[in-house]
Amino acid sequence: MFDTEVSVSILSADPLCFGEEIKRVEASGAEMIHYDVMDGVFVRNITFGMPLLSSMKGKTKCILDVHLMIADPLKYIDDFVNAGADIITFHVESESDISETIQAIRRNGVNAAISVKPDTPAEAVFPYINDVDMVLVMTVEPGFGGQKFMDMSDKIRTIRKYADENRMADIPLDIQVDGGIDDKTAPVVKKAGANILVSGSYLFRAENMEDAVRKLKDD
Ligand code: DX5
Ligand code: ZN
Repeated sequence: MFDTEVSVSILSADPLCFGEEIKRVEASGAEMIHYDVMDGVFVRNITFGMPLLSSMKGKTKCILDVHLMIADPLKYIDDFVNAGADIITFHVESESDISETIQAIRRNGVNAAISVKPDTPAEAVFPYINDVDMVLVMTVEPGFGGQKFMDMSDKIRTIRKYADENRMADIPLDIQVDGGIDDKTAPVVKKAGANILVSGSYLFRAENMEDAVRKLKDD
């Protein structure tokens, strides 16, 4: 039904070589660069802020797919928009008002997405199904790259069915998955209804990133 798209998580890239790494991502045939923002509060880890994203803006043809794992995303929406985000995802488990945060993203002309952690039920996204462009179903607990995949097929299927039946928008909902995606787990999430696959450690570990991206799309 959908062509699978790949979003490469640069959390697994070598920070000293980001310039070369984003060129490698672009050459791999992946559509997006996945940019994980962690604040040490919503999750234990701390990663990147606005300046690094700004430095990537205009330097790549890839879509800049920003995943906010921060306690109060609403406070920072304008900053990440100005820094160059094309998609902004935030968590329904965060402290910000969900509708207000979606509006703040959309009024800037940026695509809005909400994310659910493994323990959060599919129903948590239902009230917003007409307001967002994408739902991100986490397949690990957010915080670190390289974790073991958790099978969220039932949740993906439930959200896909609900969107098919209730969404009024002309464009179908994108369902993204993030965490432990490799050539073995990609077919599982695609079968359940996910169409955008985030992958970090698998792609940066691969000898040939282009082949690895193709495997995620084709399997
Ligand atoms: C985890 C991050 C992921 C992470 C995925 O909290 O949101 O984007 O980089 O990494 P892998 O593909 O290694 O599980
Ligand atoms: Zn992520």
